[in-house]
Amino acid sequence: NKGNYEHYMQKEIHEQPESLTTTMRGRLIRGGSCKAKSVLLGGLKDHLKTIRRSRRIVFIGCGTSYNAALAARPILEELSGVPVTMEIASDLLDRQGPIYREDTAVFVSQSGETADTLHALEYALENGALCVGITNTVGSAIARNTHCGVHINAGCEIGVASTKAYTSQIVVMAMVALAIGDDTISSQARRESIIDGLFDLPNKVREVLKLDQEMKDLAKLLIAEQSLLMFGRGYNYATALEGALKVKEVALMHSEGILAGEMKHGPLALVDENLPIVVIATQDACFSKQQSVIQQLHARKGRLIVMCSKGKASSVCPSGSCRVIEVPQVEDCLQPVVNIVPLQLLAYHLTVLRGYNVDQPRNLAKSVTTE
Ligand code: UD1
Ligand code: M6R
Repeated sequence: NKGNYEHYMQKEIHEQPESLTTTMRGRLIRGGSCKAKSVLLGGLKDHLKTIRRSRRIVFIGCGTSYNAALAARPILEELSGVPVTMEIASDLLDRQGPIYREDTAVFVSQSGETADTLHALEYALENGALCVGITNTVGSAIARNTHCGVHINAGCEIGVASTKAYTSQIVVMAMVALAIGDDTISSQARRESIIDGLFDLPNKVREVLKLDQEMKDLAKLLIAEQSLLMFGRGYNYATALEGALKVKEVALMHSEGILAGEMKHGPLALVDENLPIVVIATQDACFSKQQSVIQQLHARKGRLIVMCSKGKASSVCPSGSCRVIEVPQVEDCLQPVVNIVPLQLLAYHLTVLRGYNVDQPRNLAKSVTTE
């Protein structure tokens, strides 16, 4: 049922304040006079000790689910102190990469049925790792075959392009990081501010959804482009990859997410006065580095669309010559949840304006059950 919306993708983008609320329901503890704020994940609580003791945490997934894990990686590393590595499921299988008994392997999948991810799970089980699932589908193969896990509870997602599952996956993985780090006194203040940020996150997403018309106007400007680059770094490297995946998947426009730190190692050669470039430069520890990336792109006359925190337009675009998308600022590790929303809206409007099928892009299936 699409309700008042024309497409499922549109409905699923706009229902993110509610899906995020459901994802967090019953899992955030407000704390009180003598009790600290904390996180309760029923499916993980008996396994946290083993996870904390593991030698490495390996995230495994495909497509958008991989990107969600990439967005959560920095906060998991920070709060757990355990090295976190990333694997695209098919690549792990192609290489038969090493997985050990001392590893915690985390399988991220909206459907819980993706063939590559499921085969990687079988492989990790054979190698004796603790296998954790992060899925949206109760009773799915990945939910059934992992040792433990967390359901993201985002509600059924119908559009082939994953939107609300992405934001809920990031929130669940941030909660996993909080739960793993729960026994560390030195990070308690940091954890409590993230928990406060989680409580307020649905409101911030509601606020950023007001950019709908602005993104439609931007889509009108980009409708006939051949290509669109997206630069991000740190917490928002994933945002660049995921924004580009949305644009190519539904709007059928070439788009590439680029790690801004790699700019001078090749991508800079593409920059001219024609190619549109989205730069994600919201407030965090990487901000000044992104400012210098913007300056260098600007010096090569790049056509820039800069995403920045509210009120910061003049510090990312002093000359006023770029287009700016201002988003509400949240806790750094939660910023990817807010930042992806305008890019989802952009991909949606580009698709409609270009006349393509929004919910069922050509050649793609919602659940990829063959390798
Ligand atoms: C569970 C109930 C929820 C109830 C809540 C009340 C289910 C599915 N969930 O939620 O309805 O409101 O208790 O306390 O009945 N699991 C995996 N792999 C996965 C995902 C989950 O093994 O990929 C396992 C978990 O380890 C857990 C179980 O499935 O044993 C349910 O997980 P989850 O729904 O996340 O647990 P709760 O949030 O506690
Ligand atoms: O169900 P899964 O999360 O395992 O699916 C993984 C990918 O197939 C999926 O995210 C795909 O990239 C989406 N269509 C992207 O929008």
